[in-house]
Amino acid sequence: MIQDTNSNTETWWKTGVIYQIYPFTFADANGDGIGDLQGIIKKLDYLNDGNPDSETSLGIDAIWLSPINKSPMIDNGYDVSDYYDISDTFGTLADFEILLEESHKRGIKVILDLVINHTSNQHHWFIESSSSKDNPKSDWYHWQDPAPDGGVPNNWLSYFGGTGWTFNQARQQYYYHSFNENQPDINWGNPEVKAAIYQMIRFWLDKGVDGFRLDASSVYSKDKYYRYNPVKFDSTDNNKYNNLHHLYDKDLPENHQIIREIRTIIDEYEDRVLIGETFINSTLYESAIFYGMNNDELHLPFTFEFPFSPWYPGYIQREIAKKELITPEGAWASYFLDNHDIPRHLSRWVECSLCTNPLGIAQAAAAILLTVRGTPILYYGQEIGMVDNEDIPAEQIQDKIVVRSETQESPESRDGARTPMQWDDSVHAGFSFGKDTRTWLPVHQNYKEVNVAKELKDPNSILNFYRQLIRARKNNEALRIGNWRSLIHYPYEHLAYVRETNAERVLILINFSYEKDLTIDEHISCDNWQVLVSNIREVDKIIDLPTTLEAFEVSVLRK
Ligand code: GLC
Repeated sequence: MIQDTNSNTETWWKTGVIYQIYPFTFADANGDGIGDLQGIIKKLDYLNDGNPDSETSLGIDAIWLSPINKSPMIDNGYDVSDYYDISDTFGTLADFEILLEESHKRGIKVILDLVINHTSNQHHWFIESSSSKDNPKSDWYHWQDPAPDGGVPNNWLSYFGGTGWTFNQARQQYYYHSFNENQPDINWGNPEVKAAIYQMIRFWLDKGVDGFRLDASSVYSKDKYYRYNPVKFDSTDNNKYNNLHHLYDKDLPENHQIIREIRTIIDEYEDRVLIGETFINSTLYESAIFYGMNNDELHLPFTFEFPFSPWYPGYIQREIAKKELITPEGAWASYFLDNHDIPRHLSRWVECSLCTNPLGIAQAAAAILLTVRGTPILYYGQEIGMVDNEDIPAEQIQDKIVVRSETQESPESRDGARTPMQWDDSVHAGFSFGKDTRTWLPVHQNYKEVNVAKELKDPNSILNFYRQLIRARKNNEALRIGNWRSLIHYPYEHLAYVRETNAERVLILINFSYEKDLTIDEHISCDNWQVLVSNIREVDKIIDLPTTLEAFEVSVLRK
């Protein structure tokens, strides 16, 4: 008997496809050059028009919006100054309600980014907290006296570079920030803070949002004695944050308690999802503990297997196999290739020796993401093969905090992967309008070739490949919930794996190279495979198990 883990509970966040929208650059409805909620509403039909046989929709099931709350935008929304309101940049609460309603009408769930490790320093909580040592919110953030020599209280660093401590004149104390100095970490040890956050979470759930992506959810907890982090012996990472053992400033037992409490709230509501960003230089596989001992923490911890993999079948398979092993019984994995913090995969992988064929990589990567066992998360634009814009003039850079901390050996500006969605070949790639409008970030110069309108018309486009794969997932139980099993022990040129339930078996074949001979190590029956999706073979044709593959072939077959 094949074990169908979780087959009895096919909830939307397990079997659906999640699509991340970066609101600044998805669609601009008012022509100011910056994306907005009305823009997203206009594009919902593209994402999913509610018709399963649609010729023009991508067919995703949920959108995750990067933050839309009020914010001074020092970290482009990941610095919230009012959790109960929407940034004027993107619209109003009324716009959000329309977005929610229109999404739900089409069967699209809406997931919000919840940035609760820190607030903006312009949040009224921080303004009050920083005003004196004895105000009612004095303990809402991490305040510490200077060290005896007047220096920082301990060796904790900011992920964005430099010390994590910034001095405040009014209190004559330092406050801690895991990220930028404008993003003070809140004190989760204070029950009043917890109550305030939990109330806010209920506000959005009551409005009808379908879940949250918890930003930076492994660094909520801090040691109450503010002990020094041990320094890693022999670690010389460019980002010095990574050269410390984060024993005292992240992932403490209290962190899990907080997530459990949030999960309890989520579970009071029907069918909601709790996702969390669990990686900040932790060992990748630590993330499994974020499911909770009783699967009572995150439904989906976000981990970075594919983003950190080279474009090499053996490596990619090893990552999948590991994730299969570490995902606890009753828990569910998720995978992504890209997000707003990292270079897009086609830009990352273009360096590799076999990358003479970007279309092949895009198709193969799409197939892997959409056929592994776990929830796939797409980042806007990946479905049309968008690549990073590497020519953004210095004066147009928006990711200012990372640029500033570059001198402190932090990562480069993340703007390359955040450029406007390429809708068509008109002015501003159809993202915005008005010939004098300047878009928030410059549109990639390849937009006349790489855009939604053009690709929808081309049956062999990356977009149509994504659409077919998403549809195949929807229509095939094995792809949604089936077990994963590789047929090649040490893949070198090809991946060959199956997804299977008792009822159905799907075989995924991917050629990473020009090598045609396919050798598999596990026996699998040879006849009667139906082509579900392929960049080479005729769809729906019944074929025998191929012994050779075309160069860069990607085929998904069903028994
Ligand atoms: C997360 C976000 C990133 C942000 C950081 C601080 O890692 O993904 O964009 O800068 O948190 O909020």
